This record gives sequence, structure tokens and C-alpha cells, in this order.
Amino acid sequence: MSDLQIQKRIQKLRDEISRLRFAYHVTNNPSVTDDVYESLSRELHNLEEQYPQFIDENSAVYRVAGKPLDKFKKVTHNTRMLSLNDAFSKDEVSQWETRTLKILGVPTSLNYFCELKLDGLAISLIYENGVFVRGATRGDGFIGEDITENLKMIETIPLKLKGSCPESFEVRGEVVMPKRVWRSLNKTQEKEGKQLFANTRNAAAGSLRQLDPSIVKERKLDFFAWDAIGLSIANHSDIHSSLRELGFQVAPYESKADTLDKVFSFIDEMGKIRENLPYGTDGIVVTVDELALRDKIGVVGKAPRYMVAFKYPAERATTIVLDITTNVGRTGVLTPLAHFNPTLVAGSTVSKSTLHNMDQINRLDIRIGDTVVIQKAGDVIPEVVEVLAKLRTGKEKKFKMPSKCPVCNFEVEKKNTGSEQSSYSKSPRISSTNSLEGRGQTVSHKTLPTSGGPSVAYYCTNKNCPAKNARALQHFVSVFEIYTIGPKILGRLKDEGLISDSADLFTLEVADLSGLERFGVKSAENIITSISLHKRILLWRFIYALGIIHVGEQTARDLANHFGSLDKIQKADVEEINSIENIGPIVSNSIVKFFQDEANLNLINKLIKNGVTIYHEKVKGGIFSGKTFVLTGTLDTMSRDEAKKKITENGGSVSSSVSNKTSYVLAGENAGSKYNDAKKLNIQIVSEVEFLEML
Ligand code: IVH
Repeated sequence: MSDLQIQKRIQKLRDEISRLRFAYHVTNNPSVTDDVYESLSRELHNLEEQYPQFIDENSAVYRVAGKPLDKFKKVTHNTRMLSLNDAFSKDEVSQWETRTLKILGVPTSLNYFCELKLDGLAISLIYENGVFVRGATRGDGFIGEDITENLKMIETIPLKLKGSCPESFEVRGEVVMPKRVWRSLNKTQEKEGKQLFANTRNAAAGSLRQLDPSIVKERKLDFFAWDAIGLSIANHSDIHSSLRELGFQVAPYESKADTLDKVFSFIDEMGKIRENLPYGTDGIVVTVDELALRDKIGVVGKAPRYMVAFKYPAERATTIVLDITTNVGRTGVLTPLAHFNPTLVAGSTVSKSTLHNMDQINRLDIRIGDTVVIQKAGDVIPEVVEVLAKLRTGKEKKFKMPSKCPVCNFEVEKKNTGSEQSSYSKSPRISSTNSLEGRGQTVSHKTLPTSGGPSVAYYCTNKNCPAKNARALQHFVSVFEIYTIGPKILGRLKDEGLISDSADLFTLEVADLSGLERFGVKSAENIITSISLHKRILLWRFIYALGIIHVGEQTARDLANHFGSLDKIQKADVEEINSIENIGPIVSNSIVKFFQDEANLNLINKLIKNGVTIYHEKVKGGIFSGKTFVLTGTLDTMSRDEAKKKITENGGSVSSSVSNKTSYVLAGENAGSKYNDAKKLNIQIVSEVEFLEML
């Protein structure tokens, strides 16, 4: 991008972030999820870091959010309500530890305390002589809104404390709306034609700002305490115990950890159950447990350095559509595939995703160059859910289906299908807000694809289009020894529009697979590893994998041994190929014809472009070098395949029929007609014992 383009992008991002921030904080009506907002903020931050000349300190984007609304009385907090620095990976948590240790200077080991980061609203509660007297929102950290009357409606906020506590005492914690309450609230809102709440946090925020406390009461909010000011106590973990004793609800999952590994175990454990918790959590707060150390470590800006918020991987992120290509499925249907700037979503890098069909492209109005929101939930494949049209520059290009098949170059035909099949209707799909409820991540129905097939589909008209040949693909993966991919998976990959041909296998990523039905990240990783391990392939295997008519394993070996390189095989004429022992004119013709076909050459080039490398190991001076065997009958000590392997490993070749080019007939029990053929042609017959002696 040129400087001007970068500057423009920065400006667009600032405008959009400010707009979203306003919608979020002031109107409580976000049009995108937090992940999206954060993704855009990250992009802006990265650009500003890279191009400091474009930083504009007066930009609205830097203004602190959460200015109190006028309808509530303003309250100045006794001590500033800080916020937290985020860590988006375990690595970033490790870096936080390194920084913290460096600040402390002395070599020491730290005790940590881990707790849930609840997805709600921070509030402050003031107790005087054990009685709740005032409650306020965080606001901008210095000044919040007095929402005492509303907070009194929350059953889990004690109005009077149990036991003894300081004269004046402040508790901080999170007001949350349980997922179950949020779901039913949204149902009612929908019935009444009112705006839905995007997530539990917004629903909680919207409820707390109601001027009528009785509405708050109906909303069934909940409160979890996470900190207290004014207790003379040594550790943050002790604060939690005291809070419980005083009658506060504290989140039930927490853990002391004397190593970072233990912190990570807690993060992993919670990662497994957090979807099933009754309230939303978006991370784990990790803090230095010893309060005396906190002062030494200090606060910078609006966040303490002694605490960090590990955030679970976002399920939504923004990226740019670099291109839209098409893949051809088993039925010949063309499926558009979007290519993105690689982006981390839900822990894996996503650089492409299927767009399913033209209807989907039109519905979302996706154009090349657009900034889009992609979603990758654990159990679905990555998907474009929304276009951020406000970020358009005017240079975006509309996508048109090609008029020629990208695989065989035959005409493409447009068919009206009504609700006919397409990969689109078969895949597990998010088709309503409900499927996202558990994650508290949805926006509105409009942005999400609806189920049902496309009204039009585009097909390759070539009956013999290589992309329609499912068997060829299966043969390819088995010759490449990518055993982790079976026919079912190949079928899904084709149906999802992720691959047209064998070469596309080599561009697959974990994220493409981990969303396929019944597919975990682990098995996706296994497949990707297996694909990349087999990218380097022996020449004969490569030839065999191409599926040239009449070219079996042995012919492929013979070709490789004779020519030594793919280039030479491609250039060879019928005569030269025909001169190879065991290869006759029909096979030679088929080979030459194969390499004359442009579609085949394109595929070979694509395979190489996608990282396949071919090497040849000449079987040098093997004892069977130049010898051809024919096998007949049943062998005692080995299978036929084992015998074949022994022959080829020692430089020999195996043929299926006896001719005067045959060197030996290896005859086992119940030898058939080949035995007689050998006799007739005076070919040497060897028994299994003699064969083993030859080795
Ligand atoms: S401690 C220094 N503990 O996260 C600020 N915060 O991103 C003290 N939050 O404003 C925060 N669960 O609304 C803390 N267990 C927890 C939390 C938590 C949720 C929220 C809180 C805060 C925000 C910071």
C-alpha cells in the first residue's frame, strides 16, 4: 500500500472504531461484536506503530469511552477504577511475567492468582458500617454513574454485610446477566419488535442503565465480587476468601499458581468448560497474589502492571478479501472461495473460506478488496459473516463467476436451481442467532447466512472434467501416502469448495479442516502435517499418482528409472517410451497423450507451485537391475506384494504377463497359465526358495 492508501485506511479505521465505540458505550446498541471491534483496533494500532507519522492525538478514537450519561448522578470514585492489559496468547502471558520480574529486579519467583474474567460490567459498591450505601458504574474510571437504586435490585449484592468489616469499605466486581436470562430477554424483545441485545454484557449494561429499578429487578442480573479496597490483608486470594465470608458471591473457579505452567493449566481447564458456564467469560485474570508486591510493580496508564487478562481466542476477526477464486466440486458445480490476508481466528490462521455460491456473495455484497468479518467457531468452518462497507475505498471489485471452468476450460453453464443442492445447504451452518448464544457473540440475524440452497448455480459442462473424478483424487492421496485423508474427507473438501484438484490439497490449512463435521483441531493438524510430510515425493510415485491411463506402479517405476526426471518424461516421444522393457505401444501412446493435454500440464505446474517437490533415487546396481519378474501361484513365506517389494528394492521390475522380455517367472504353489507360458517361451522359472537364495 502507498503512504496515501495507508493514511486513508487509518482514517477509515478511526472513523469506524469511533462510530462503533459510540454505538457501544452510549447507545448500548453495538452493530458488531467485541471481537470485531478489537480486531479493527488492533489493525489501527499496528498501522500506527508502523507509520507513526500518521498518528493523530486529537482523533476521537483516543477519547476515553464510557462517559457517564446525564440521566444518572455522577460519582467520583475514591480510587480510580483501572482496566486491564490483555494478553492474546500464552506467549504474551510469559512476556508479561518476564516484564514483571524485570521490574522487581531481584530474582524471585512469583505466586499468581487466577480467576475468571467475567463478561459484564465493572461496578463499585460502597459499604459504611457494613451497610450498602452507594453503587456506581466504572464510567471513565474516575467518574461513574450512581446506580445505587438499580443495584439494590440485584439479589446477590448484600445490603448488609455478615461479620465485621472496616467502617468504610469498597467492593468491586462484575454485574452479569446469566446466559439463560439473556436468551429469554431476547425472545421477549423480538416478540415485542424491540432491538436484540448482542451479548450478555450489553444486556447487563442496558439493564443497569434503566431509570426504573423495577425493570432492573425483572432483568435478573447477578453480581460477582472480584476485589475489595480497605481490608488489611496480605494476598489477593485472601481478599476473595474475605469477600465470601462477608456474604458476597465470588466466581467459583479460581486458583493459586506458583508457576506459569500452573497458570496455563488453569487457562486450559477453564477453556474447556467456559462455554458451559451459566454466564459469559472471555478470559482469565492473572494477578500477582502478594499485595505488597503490587505497589512495587505499579500502574502504567490506565492498567496495572501486576495483572494481565488472558483473552481466549476471538471467534471473529476482520480481514481483507484479496481475491475470490472458484473451485469445482464433484458434480461440476463452481464454488467461490475467498482468499484473505491471513488472520488469527479462534487460535488458527485463516486465509481462505468458502463463499458457497453467488447468492451468498450477493446477500452479503462481498467484493474483492472488502474488509470483512470472518468467524471461526470451534465446530464450524471459517465463514464470512459480514462486510464492513463503511471501510470501502471505492476500489473494491465485484466478483463475477468465470465463463470457463477453471480446471478444464470448458464452458460454464448457469442453471436456475430453486432450492436445489449445493455444498452450501449441506454444511453445518449458523443460521440463526441461537447457535451463537452460548458464546454471547452474535449481532443480528441480518448479517448471518440463512439456510437453504442457492437459486442459481454454475456448472462446468465437461462430462469428463478432471475435477469431477473423485476416484482420481483418492488414488492421488493414496499414492502420496497421505493416509489420514479418506474418501469421505475428500468428498467434504470438494463439497465445501475448498479443493478442485489434488494440487489444492497442498494449500489447505488447519482452519479449513477443523470446522468439518466431527473434526477436531488435533485431527486437522494431523492431516496438515501428513500432507506437508509427503510434499517431497519420489518421481515414480508422482508419475503413478497422476493417474495416467495404463500407467500402473511398475510402469511408473520403469519410466522414472529410464528417464530420471519429470522433464525428460514429459518431453519423451512414443518411440523412446516404447523402447523401455515392459512398455508397449498402447501405454507409450497414452503417456505421450497425457503430457500433451494442457489441463494435465496445468495441474503438474500447480502441484509444483503449491510446494510438491520431486526427487528420483536410481536403484543403483541392484541384484535384479534390468531383470523383469512375473509372479504366479501362492508363495509360502511372503505375500505377493512383499515379493514385489523385494524385487523392486533390488532394482528389478515386475510385469503382469509373460513375454520374451521376462527374465524370471517366480512360481509359487498352484501356479497358473503363466507357468506354462514361461515354459513355452523358455523363460527361467524360479521357486520361492531359489528366489530367496538369490537375495
Ligand atoms: S480485575 C485493574 N477481575 O475486566 C482492574 N476484572 O478489562 C481490575 N473483569 O473493568 C480488574 N472479571 O469489568 C478483574 N475477575 C475479574 C474480572 C474483571 C471481569 C472486567 C472488569 C474490568 C475489565 C478489565
